[in-house]
Amino acid sequence: MLDKASIKQMKAQVQEDKQWRQGYHMMPQTGWLNDPNGLAYFQDTYHIYHQYEPYKATGGATHWGHKTSEDLVHFQEEVIFLSPDQPFDQDGVYSGSAIEVDGQLHFFYTGNVKKPGHYDYIYSGREQNVVHVVSPDGFEIQSREVVIAHEDFPPGYSDHIRDPNVFSQNDKFYMLLGARTDDNKGAIILYESQDLDNWTFLGDFLAGDEDQGFMWECPDYSDHGEHSVLIFSPQGVIGDHFSFQNPYSAGYLIGNVDWDMGRFLPTEDFQELDYGFDFYAPQTFKDAKGRHILIGWMGMPDIEPEYTNPTISYGWQHCLALPREIEVRNHKLYQKPIEEYQALRGDAVNLETDKSYERSALYELNIAGENLQVLQLELSQDSQLTYDGEILTLRHGVSGFGRKKRQVKIPAINRIQVFGDYSSLEIFINDGEYVLTTRIYPTRSDLSIRIEADQEVKATYWPLSET
Ligand code: FRU
Repeated sequence: MLDKASIKQMKAQVQEDKQWRQGYHMMPQTGWLNDPNGLAYFQDTYHIYHQYEPYKATGGATHWGHKTSEDLVHFQEEVIFLSPDQPFDQDGVYSGSAIEVDGQLHFFYTGNVKKPGHYDYIYSGREQNVVHVVSPDGFEIQSREVVIAHEDFPPGYSDHIRDPNVFSQNDKFYMLLGARTDDNKGAIILYESQDLDNWTFLGDFLAGDEDQGFMWECPDYSDHGEHSVLIFSPQGVIGDHFSFQNPYSAGYLIGNVDWDMGRFLPTEDFQELDYGFDFYAPQTFKDAKGRHILIGWMGMPDIEPEYTNPTISYGWQHCLALPREIEVRNHKLYQKPIEEYQALRGDAVNLETDKSYERSALYELNIAGENLQVLQLELSQDSQLTYDGEILTLRHGVSGFGRKKRQVKIPAINRIQVFGDYSSLEIFINDGEYVLTTRIYPTRSDLSIRIEADQEVKATYWPLSET
């Protein structure tokens, strides 16, 4: 039940934040937000649900918040869709997906129940139930029932099995679940069903090695015709100086599926989806135009000890990244911010290099040039992006609140696109071949932009409006 008095108090606290509430990103009205859930284009409306704890900026028993949109740019806050109020989900309505079948929207999520006395939930101490929700319109709940109870999961996978991703293929329904095996490896397991209620376990869709993390969260399967894409978020991949630098990562595999064996067969290595500080648990869906759209959480769980998100003291934390259109090209997944965001552009300004310009707090920047070599961009109060022909470096000063540097090796760059909001940067390289997403917490004074380059570049800047 919504506690109106607490929400009112938290809203007043959130209003005190005069700097870092976002201008055009989805964020919680109060409290905490994490993974996007149940993404769907249904009955002419986009439905974005998400992990949400409205009462506490540092998280807790999650609900499913709900936002709707006609254009994926302007969003309307709807009433909370699901709350942790059932015996099978009392400690969290965890992540899951949606599928439209016969004019109704079917949702699958993990109902989390924590067993008393366990605070280190490594292998055990929790129950995870797969719950099926049917809705005629995306708002009303017609039924909500457990379809795979915790005790019915096969042995060998610890108590960590969650985040159902349901889709149809070959006249059947399939469900993927992220898992942690008893011997500490990540896995994605596969179930099938004819009716969405009775599910049969088929085995490992994909199994990880020791060096591929100890738990794989939030699987997401999409069929791109010639190829299939399997996205998931492994915890605990040990990175090097240029990759997998976050404690948890989000990445993808391109491959094919052997449906008789129920196996995903990768044709390429696992790639990170984003090289910034804040991108996790993304999910995809297909829209009315047939585009595959990916939305990720612009946040990171169990973050680095030296970093504190300063919005916590204003009673809110985290947001979602901009929706991105994904496409398989040259054995890679390219991610482009959807073109709808051009609607927010004001008048274009062409920028000369080695010259400082005043800018608006919300902006888009596009830089193009043949094989860019030495380049330095001042993007925000004290955030810079540099490229030396081999390594791209994103550096934060005090506005990083403890986060300092991310580096990626990129053999050649010919295009950089940046989206700046009041407290985030999303940087797309080579039309989305590489992406860096990060929160930053700058002041709203001295807003300038500067590009230094020792070659000719075409640079365009647009102020963006709030939504
Ligand atoms: C990923 C995750 C999911 C889980 C949810 C709980 O960020 O840990 O595995 O369902 O968040 O909020």
